[in-house]
Order: sequence, then structure tokens, then C-alpha cells
Amino acid sequence: MRRLERTHIASMTGYTPGEQPREPGIVKLNTNENPFPPSPGVFEALRDFDAASLQKYPEPDCRSLRQAIAAELQIAEAEVVVTNGGDELLRMVFTTFCAPDSCVLSTEPTYSLYPVLAALHQCKFVGVSLDQGRGLPSALPGQVRDLAPSLVLIVNPHAPTGRLFPLQALHDLACAVPGVLLIDEAYVDFVAPKQEHNSLALIAEHPNVILLRTFSKGYALAGLRLGFGLGNEALIAPMATKVRDSYNVDGIAQALGLAAWQDQAHKAKNTARIRAERERVRAALIAEGFEVPESHANFVHATPPAGVFAQNLFADLKSKGVLVRYFAHPGDALRITIGSEAENDAMLGALRG
Ligand SMILES: Cc1ncc(COP(=O)(O)O)c(C=O)c1O
Repeated sequence: MRRLERTHIASMTGYTPGEQPREPGIVKLNTNENPFPPSPGVFEALRDFDAASLQKYPEPDCRSLRQAIAAELQIAEAEVVVTNGGDELLRMVFTTFCAPDSCVLSTEPTYSLYPVLAALHQCKFVGVSLDQGRGLPSALPGQVRDLAPSLVLIVNPHAPTGRLFPLQALHDLACAVPGVLLIDEAYVDFVAPKQEHNSLALIAEHPNVILLRTFSKGYALAGLRLGFGLGNEALIAPMATKVRDSYNVDGIAQALGLAAWQDQAHKAKNTARIRAERERVRAALIAEGFEVPESHANFVHATPPAGVFAQNLFADLKSKGVLVRYFAHPGDALRITIGSEAENDAMLGALRG
């Protein structure tokens, strides 16, 4: 049959989402969802939601939620854009800032949606390999200088390794990048308060930095599809006023997102529980001979002991009803989402035998 899609779309490969099993009883530790429920305020807002209001369009610019986010973070409303998941922000950033044939840089490994968005926008994607250490790739500054990227994408805390790049390194990178530096903070809610990791200064000081945040992880609302971007008004305005779909976030998502946002205490409690589980799971895996670097996200990156192959472990766990993710880079490893206490025990039990 004659193909009617554009040539570059015909030749590219789409994004493959993590497996979403239909059968009950699967221990699902493969897509970094939150195992604990969202705020009781979300349940209440859903119960009280006036279905008749769906007859009308929602607030086109998510005004109420934007105001609440700006007030809590002590930034201007014009520095916030609310999106249909963090993924929509990523798409909007590519559409707004990345001309065809321009270069987009990230780390290798990174979030696998990035190269897909680059292909969709006919950009050249380059992944700079992570070093063994804890910092940004040492080759990154040279690549930034040589390739003059329109966009650099850094996941922080990093996925799939869980490492946290220091803010000073991101400040230095922002100064060096000629285009936009997007710091994907999908997992930032799991950074321990004692790290004093406050990235908001990055948007105050650098007119080319955008921060991505999401309700999917720390707020336990992956099914709602709600995220937001933060940045200098001149970066946010073209996305919010031109590139965004006319009503990109539905009325239910706006109402439930507002309820979740207004209960920061619940998010703090929920993420503290996950951090405690993360340390317990990490210690248990280390005791089994895995190499597990410190993680600042809601997953751990576990390299099996010598002679054991992560791909085999992945298949073995799957056969026992436990889903995790397998990564071949950097090194043969599993990425294991931190689940509830019972789910983590089931995963550890399946690994042991
Ligand atoms: C690194 C990273 N960025 C962004 C997202 C997008 O999150 P969402 O679209 O659910 O807000 C994810 C989802 O897993 C992610 O892992």
C-alpha cells in the first residue's frame, strides 16, 4: 500500500511504553509508578467533581493550578506552563526550540522518549556516555562546544541510574549551552530533604533553563497525565501561547491536580515512605551481592554479581510474576521500581530463589 505519512515518520521507530500487564497479581516494578495512593483530597475532589461542568471547556491555561504552583514555589505565574504529563512538555520544547537538522544532546543512557522526539522533529540526537563516576559525562562540555545543540536534556535525578548531578555542574552547563537546557526533574520529589537540592535558582539565574516536573511520580497520579514546566517567562510564553494544544489539560485533571498540589504534606509523607523502602531494598540487594549505587529516585539500578546476567534475572523474575526493567547500558543491570513493602519483599523473594 502507498504510504502517505512523511518520509521521516515512515522511517522512524515510535516510543515503546513499559509493559502494562492486564492479569491480576503481577508485581509491577517496571515503570516507576508510585505504589501508595494519592492524597485523600484527590479522592474527595473526584467524588465532588461536577460532571455537568464537562459540558463546557476547561480553563485553557490551567489558571487556577498555575497560580497555586507559582504561589507555592514563589515564582511568577508566567514562569509556569501546565501540560498533559511531563511528556507533553517535552514535545512542546522540541516543537518550540529545535529546528530540523539541529542537534539535540543528552546522556547515554537517558529517557528513551528523547530520541523519538528528536526523530519526529528531524533533529540529530547525540547521547554522551555516562562515566563511572557520579557526575555529568566528562565529554559533555566538549560535545556542547563542538555540536552547538539547540537543546540539551539532562534527567536529574538521573534515570535509570538514580544518581543526582550536583547543581553547580548544571549551572556551569547552562552557561555553556547555546540553546535550551532542559532539566527533567520527573523524580526530584524523591530527593531527600537533607540533600538541600533546590534547583529553582537555575531558572532564576539562567534564561535558557527549563525544569520539567510531573504529578505522575511523587504525587502518585501517573494515570491522570499532568505535569508542568518552569522557566524564564520568555521561554515559557511561546509554549504557553502558541505551541500548546488549545485545551491541553482536561477539567478533571486540573481539579484533581489542584487537590494534590494543595496537600504537600501528603506528598512529603508518601515520598519519605518510598525513600525508607529504597534504602531497605538497596541494602537487601547489596547483601545478595548486587552492586547498587545510591539512588535519589523511586527506583534502584542493580548490577548482578559476577557470572550472573541481568537479562536472565529479568526473564526469571517475569516468569515468577515480577516485572522490572532490563538495561544493557551502562553495564548489564536491572532497574527496579520501589514498590510497597509487600511488593518489594515479593521481588526480593523471587530473586533469592
Ligand atoms: C525521565 C522521565 N521524564 C519524564 C517522564 C514523563 O512523565 P509523565 O509524562 O508521566 O509526567 C518520565 C516518565 O516515566 C520519565 O521517566
